[in-house]
Amino acid sequence: MAYVQPIVSSDAVFKDDIFKGKVLFCTGGGSGICKSMTEAVMRHGADAVIVGRKLERLTQTAEELSRATGRTCLPAQADVRHPKQIQEAVAKTIEKFGRIDFVICGAAGNFLAPISGLSENGFKTVIEIDTLGTYNTIKATLPHVRASKGSYIHVSATLHYRGTPYQVHVSAAKAAVDATSAVLAVEEGPHGVRSNVIAPGPIAGTEGADRLTPKEANGSMGPMPAGRWGDVKDIANATIFLFSDAASFISGQVIAVDGASEHLRPTQ
Ligand code: HXC
Repeated sequence: MAYVQPIVSSDAVFKDDIFKGKVLFCTGGGSGICKSMTEAVMRHGADAVIVGRKLERLTQTAEELSRATGRTCLPAQADVRHPKQIQEAVAKTIEKFGRIDFVICGAAGNFLAPISGLSENGFKTVIEIDTLGTYNTIKATLPHVRASKGSYIHVSATLHYRGTPYQVHVSAAKAAVDATSAVLAVEEGPHGVRSNVIAPGPIAGTEGADRLTPKEANGSMGPMPAGRWGDVKDIANATIFLFSDAASFISGQVIAVDGASEHLRPTQ
């Protein structure tokens, strides 16, 4: 089994045990950005349940993360589009760990298609995975997150801040996710629950970047203000901050982790 390279360096800003005794529930945690977010939270002391459709990949990732962090990670097979499946994953989490402190709503679908070539079912499918899936996850976890006065992070995107071609389905879905998080923050704030959004910019080496950005842009960086693409470590560090007590008065926010690339307008 390959050892997971530490994504949070030994000179990490936060103490190793800040999440000791806490439990993370992460949809989409079997791979990519959400796997790294889970690893980061586990490296700071939490146990985790990762949720996804592909049990084999989830099981392998859970073993990797447990081995790398010394914490316990369990796989739970569920499709976020189906409330009953998510409820069962939550029940499994409670049975094993007795609590849920942190939730990452990260399960997402994406492919490139112009409006003129996108079928109704293609649009609906991404809305159902990203938006309805987020709602289903919130609904199933909320009683437990209220009980622990816990915190949500929703993984969104920056592409809906402008008209991004071939991404109408994802843009609509992520705009709804941002809005859902804001409402959750306002409604549940009095119960001690926080909700924030991380909007990743171009993150190197992820499925999203490899499959969805034009080949000619990949690696050449283009006009990136930070002079580099993002790394999963950047998203992981933002995750640790937002779940930590250092962010206890931050809720209802969208934090773009994109090296300021959304502020850069093309000159032509
Ligand atoms: C056009 C497509 C398509 C494509 C699927 N569809 N792929 N249409 N181009 N490439 C259409 C199908 O034809 C069908 O409509 C409908 O979508 C449902 O497809 P299914 O394959 O039946 O659905 P399902 O098995 O549920 O899979 C859904 C999926 C998913 C959305 C395609 O498998 C998927 O996206 N997997 C990739 C996950 C991923 O990459 N996640 C990371 C996202 S990164 P019809 O009409 O034919 O029935 C991200 C960040 C964005 O989101 C930032 C980018 C830089």
